[in-house]
Amino acid sequence: MAEIMVFDGAATAGSFVANHIVDALGRAPGFTLGGATGSTPSPVYEALGAHAARGVDFSSMFAFALDEYVGLPAAHPQCYHTVIERAVTLPLGLEPERVHVPDGSADDIETAGERYEEELTAHGGVDLQLLGIGTTGHIGFNEPGSSFGSLTRVKTLTERTRADNARFFASPDDVPIHCVTQGLGTILRARHLVLLAFGKGKAAAIAAAVEGPVTASLPGSAIQLHPHVTVVLDEAAASELSFLDYYRWAQDNKPAWQGI
Ligand code: PGA
Repeated sequence: MAEIMVFDGAATAGSFVANHIVDALGRAPGFTLGGATGSTPSPVYEALGAHAARGVDFSSMFAFALDEYVGLPAAHPQCYHTVIERAVTLPLGLEPERVHVPDGSADDIETAGERYEEELTAHGGVDLQLLGIGTTGHIGFNEPGSSFGSLTRVKTLTERTRADNARFFASPDDVPIHCVTQGLGTILRARHLVLLAFGKGKAAAIAAAVEGPVTASLPGSAIQLHPHVTVVLDEAAASELSFLDYYRWAQDNKPAWQGI
């Protein structure tokens, strides 16, 4: 099932996804969240944090992050270990050993991807993978040309992605050139994909990922190969979808039993 859901803003969308995660955790303690970074998942993490502050117990949850920069010291505020710790581990009260992030500062960086795949496989995979999408169409840091069978490995960021992410760094030159990212093949093994996008700047990438050809040139189009995908958008990010009227119609007439 692929489903496109449009909300009046990122906060509403984030609460919707967070409520679903809380329900899923309640049904299946040990639920494993696939964490994304960047601005997009923040409304989900904020809403999860609000649940935790109201007493929801997340302590049985596990988390696996999508990616990490290569070569950033752990103390750097944009090191994704630190980002995930700030956004997920601490506010939700998870034991740090339940939270996994690829190792971008390993001396043997060439095998960091294999080790992460082993951790993921030994754990039993991800139940719900949060995804953002880059303006290049990347999911995780799988830039154009990524194989649909790819597993976690070192990738080179495009200049476009480095420019997009420069807002998080003191200078554009500080954005790392390399990353360790789950591959498209890794992402496609997660049991449920939830792709979020907010703002007009994501509209073209979303239209291409949801409705365009399935192509390595637009890695987000890999979601079309997955049996269970929910695409969660605001009005601006949905604005270039050709079948938007139909998606709205389906959302308005969604059977109450269906869930996402
Ligand atoms: P953003 O990044 O959420 O910061 O826009 C999305 C992504 O690059 O996947």
